[in-house]
Amino acid sequence: MRQYAYRAQIFHLLDDPQHDAEAFQYFKDGLLIVEDGHVKAVGSFRRLAKTLRASTKINHYKNHLIMPGFIDTHIHFPQVDIIGSYGRQLLDWLQDYTFPAELAFKDSKVCVETARFFVKELLRNGTTSALVFGTVHEGSADALFAEAQKKNMRLIAGKVLMDRGAPKGLLDGKDLGRAATKRLIKKWHGRGRLGYAITPRFAPTSTPEQLAMAGVLKAENPSVHVHTHMCENKDEIKYVGELFPDSTDYLDVYEKHGLVGDKTVLAHGVHMSASMCKRVSANGAAISLCPTSNMFIGSGLFNLSQLRRHKVRHALGTDIGGGTSFSMLMTMNAAYSVCQLRDLSLSSMDAFYMATLGGAKVLGMDKYVGNFELGKEADFVVMDLKATPLIARRLKIAKRLKALLFAIMILGDDRMIAETFVMGRSVYKK
Ligand code: GUN
Ligand code: ZN
Repeated sequence: MRQYAYRAQIFHLLDDPQHDAEAFQYFKDGLLIVEDGHVKAVGSFRRLAKTLRASTKINHYKNHLIMPGFIDTHIHFPQVDIIGSYGRQLLDWLQDYTFPAELAFKDSKVCVETARFFVKELLRNGTTSALVFGTVHEGSADALFAEAQKKNMRLIAGKVLMDRGAPKGLLDGKDLGRAATKRLIKKWHGRGRLGYAITPRFAPTSTPEQLAMAGVLKAENPSVHVHTHMCENKDEIKYVGELFPDSTDYLDVYEKHGLVGDKTVLAHGVHMSASMCKRVSANGAAISLCPTSNMFIGSGLFNLSQLRRHKVRHALGTDIGGGTSFSMLMTMNAAYSVCQLRDLSLSSMDAFYMATLGGAKVLGMDKYVGNFELGKEADFVVMDLKATPLIARRLKIAKRLKALLFAIMILGDDRMIAETFVMGRSVYKK
């Protein structure tokens, strides 16, 4: 079995900094050793170099930082063409921009071409895993899974379920999307590194019958995820109250239909009551925080302190195309800004945790990815610490690790990603 060795600065987190502030490793001159796509060793170059086989060539990246690949816990692949669409808040944004764009995915050629672009763009931004929305069309999920499989990515996705509140071409038929979802689960769930998520868009676009059907599918397939939106925007929340008068709140709509458990990821959670936080936490569900989207669509400022207080699992998502960047570095920057406006200064350790190991935990894949623990799958990024003149200048004076990481997450974006590896294989190089 061939051995690969990568020499650079190396950083990864071993636990949530909120539990243990010292649970990280940083090697100023580090070595990552990979065998058969898995982490064989990580440590200082001095200590590990002598353990290498004579035949192993060292890939030396001077002025670079190697860290685990980024994990995006909420993104829509069919929305790449509507990023940066002007002047609407959520419900109008969906009607005016999103639904028209998603109608095009009836055409399998559009699915395949967009999936190809999307996967490339993830890797170009150093994102190696993601939880992804398709459209209502079965072919959208098929195309995305096929593309992710080519790159051997650990990725979870699903065809959207919706049967009201959108143009006819975006609605599931008489069987409420059951047959297509079942076919996709059978075809893709657990195939290689892929996983399926049952994906009701959000309460306003599903009838109670469809949500009930989704709950039954989840009960029949306990290992799949559930992926939806919740409490993003105030008008949306009011509308859900009108559509579901028998539910006590938005979360209750999903709870009533068996959709809230430890494999459920709820995007946004910007406006949540204490009761909702308690119940999300008790059910072991997770919130994907999407700060660039929340600011761009004008949805509001998420409340990280409240989520922490209630021990709600959470991580970061880009929410392309409501979100404005594929870059998890820019997403961390936006998360910092949102927290500042809420009187919380998000630390660089917390932000990098949410974008790597924390994301892996939210997606239930931390056994496999998220850091460089021995035996984990070698998904990693090589970041160019001299990507731009300003970054080079600013990072040179950031002497301590936390200051270095903070400057990276505030100034960094796709320009910093020099190379991306998936299971030890280079899949993007600048
Ligand atoms: N809520 C329901 N659908 C969507 C979507 O596509 N994007 C966002 N940001 N929120 C949603
Ligand atoms: Zn979304």
